[in-house]
Amino acid sequence: MDHFYNKVKENRKSKVPENVWMELLKQQALPDRTVAHCISVGELAAQWAGEINLNNPEMIDEDVAYAGGLLHDMARHMPDHELEGAKILRGLGHDQIADVVEAHMQLPDWDGKSITEKELVYAADKVIHETDHVGIKERYRIAKEKYGHDRDTISRLDRSEKKALEVMSEIEYLIRYKSI
Ligand SMILES: [Fe+2]
Repeated sequence: MDHFYNKVKENRKSKVPENVWMELLKQQALPDRTVAHCISVGELAAQWAGEINLNNPEMIDEDVAYAGGLLHDMARHMPDHELEGAKILRGLGHDQIADVVEAHMQLPDWDGKSITEKELVYAADKVIHETDHVGIKERYRIAKEKYGHDRDTISRLDRSEKKALEVMSEIEYLIRYKSI
């Protein structure tokens, strides 16, 4: 398995030095645990992007997956943090990464099938709790324990979990097989 991940890493052709995105994240003055979470999500989204591209060359822009994951919670300290993060990124001219950040909470426009950088960051955020890769079911169990005090919230979390599982199963398919 290590060999496989090394191959994925070697195949990553980054057009932008990774430290550009890391600097931008660090400029946001976030708590250390949020930065650590962002790094975990960025690494996982980039890993999945590399794995998908092994079977499906250049299907995913690995830089956008990595930067989108790294920056998805860059405005975590603000209300509507996904919109605020996207606004900052658009102001800097990073529109594609802004679209990924904007969609990371609910993935509002998903067509039920397509996997892009947006879906990778959304799903990576749903399998990682803090910095641990716990999986979707455990991530939602934790969320329900913390926030699920009424029926509306529980059914909202149930719907969100179902969608996350559907997205994840499409990602797993692409990691194993070619898309066509
Ligand atoms: Fe977030």
